[in-house]
Amino acid sequence: MKISAPLVKALNNQISMEANAANAYLSAASWCEVTGYDGAASFFHDQAEEEHQHMLKFVNFVNGQCLGAIIPGTKQPPKTYKSLESICKTALSNEQAVTKAINHMVDLAQKDKDHNTFTFLQFFVNEQIEEEQQFENILQKFNLLGRDKLAIYEIDKLLGSLGTSGSDSEN
Ligand code: FEO
Repeated sequence: MKISAPLVKALNNQISMEANAANAYLSAASWCEVTGYDGAASFFHDQAEEEHQHMLKFVNFVNGQCLGAIIPGTKQPPKTYKSLESICKTALSNEQAVTKAINHMVDLAQKDKDHNTFTFLQFFVNEQIEEEQQFENILQKFNLLGRDKLAIYEIDKLLGSLGTSGSDSEN
């Protein structure tokens, strides 16, 4: 089945969103690395890799429909950050924007009765639930443990323990 023009546009836009997400997480990982947050650096490196895999899934899907994926330029992510908490807050709001974009594509696929694209998108629907939940849980830790040096040390350790074993390991 031929994918509708609005859905092709949205799929290509998603390639760009995933590429920007990968870059943003890499920048966060880099800042954490030089700031001494080793656990968070490892966590954000994993997130960057996941987002890169997401981007590839969209590229492969679009190419698989003989449409020719558009490989985007990426936005310059921030060079520096106020705090580990501010990175996590921004990450949650970026993930919420991705969820909105995925839901929009699901709506389009449903409207078009495009079962192929609808089925492809289900992975991302589930993935976004997990990603939003993950950052909500991390942000909750700042409220529970506090924001002094010892609390940040514990949160950094916790981030380091999260690893990639969860949601996306089948990529
Ligand atoms: Fe691939 Fe976290 O959006």
